[in-house]
Amino acid sequence: MRRDFYQVSGREVDLFRQAYAQRVPVMLTGPTGCGKTRLVEYMGGVLNRPVVTISCHDDLTSSDLVGRYTVSGGDVVWHDGPLTRAVKEGAICYMDEVVEARHDSLAVLHSLTDHRRTLFLDRAGAVVEAPDAFMLVCSYNPAYRSSLKELKPSFRQRFVTVAMTYLPAELEVQVLVSESGVDRAAAQRLVKCASSIRNADDVLHFEPPSTRVLVTAAKLVAAGASELEAAEVSILAPLSNDGAITEGLRELAAASLLGANTTAPDRRVIAGGVKS
Ligand SMILES: Nc1ncnc2c1ncn2[C@@H]1O[C@H](COP(=O)(O)OP(=O)(O)OP(=O)(O)O)[C@@H](O)[C@H]1O
Ligand SMILES: [Mg+2]
Repeated sequence: MRRDFYQVSGREVDLFRQAYAQRVPVMLTGPTGCGKTRLVEYMGGVLNRPVVTISCHDDLTSSDLVGRYTVSGGDVVWHDGPLTRAVKEGAICYMDEVVEARHDSLAVLHSLTDHRRTLFLDRAGAVVEAPDAFMLVCSYNPAYRSSLKELKPSFRQRFVTVAMTYLPAELEVQVLVSESGVDRAAAQRLVKCASSIRNADDVLHFEPPSTRVLVTAAKLVAAGASELEAAEVSILAPLSNDGAITEGLRELAAASLLGANTTAPDRRVIAGGVKS
């Protein structure tokens, strides 16, 4: 996979650079598959820093982040966790889906994300000052956020927040071509297909197809699949378990892929599909 290619669409790269230069942590928000992880990987290359990724979840403890003592061969040995390693290395530490982590686990980040830039390893009795090269980046998808999992304002306000979304059509076509090698005309049809579904999203209330699924569809097309089949298995099938909705979307997708006049998505197709 090409981690060095990132299609810029707004101010995100400049803001990331400026935040890095001023040692301010960055919070990326946006729907699944819109390019958050790719941006962090790309910026790792641009800034010449390794990226240490931590996937956050309910059971993640502060010890999982900073480290713990373990017994090995009769000795008690301290092992740095990934956060401590990232700080010591001066890496970009990327905490993915940070909203999934419990508040008490995130508390360890407070001293690291303000002017102190210091990690307190209470159990080891050690204090680690972050080198200038260290940067913390977190991300979450606002669509998955529940009131139970709100991030505290005291946490959120420590970050520069960069809100990401899907690329404009022409740039998304460019991503598909570059990531899959598919021809431009096919990429344009796939993007048009996704756009028509995204435009119908306000009546459907599910997370619309992402750039990720479009890249997958484009890869299948590049490998010889028909556009309709590629769209069916990559774009439509993951959207909804409701067969009736999928049926309506299939008509919408077919209209885009077969070149029918779909400049304005026909919401009656969806409504008809839901009812049938
Ligand atoms: N701006 C972009 N430039 C290049 N590729 C992109 C871009 N946006 C999305 N992609 C493509 O879409 C894929 C998914 O993007 P990425 O993994 O960064 O999504 P994400 O926002 O991190 O999603 P999730 O929240 O599910 O982790 C990438 O592997 C890449 O192929
Ligand atoms: Mg990601």
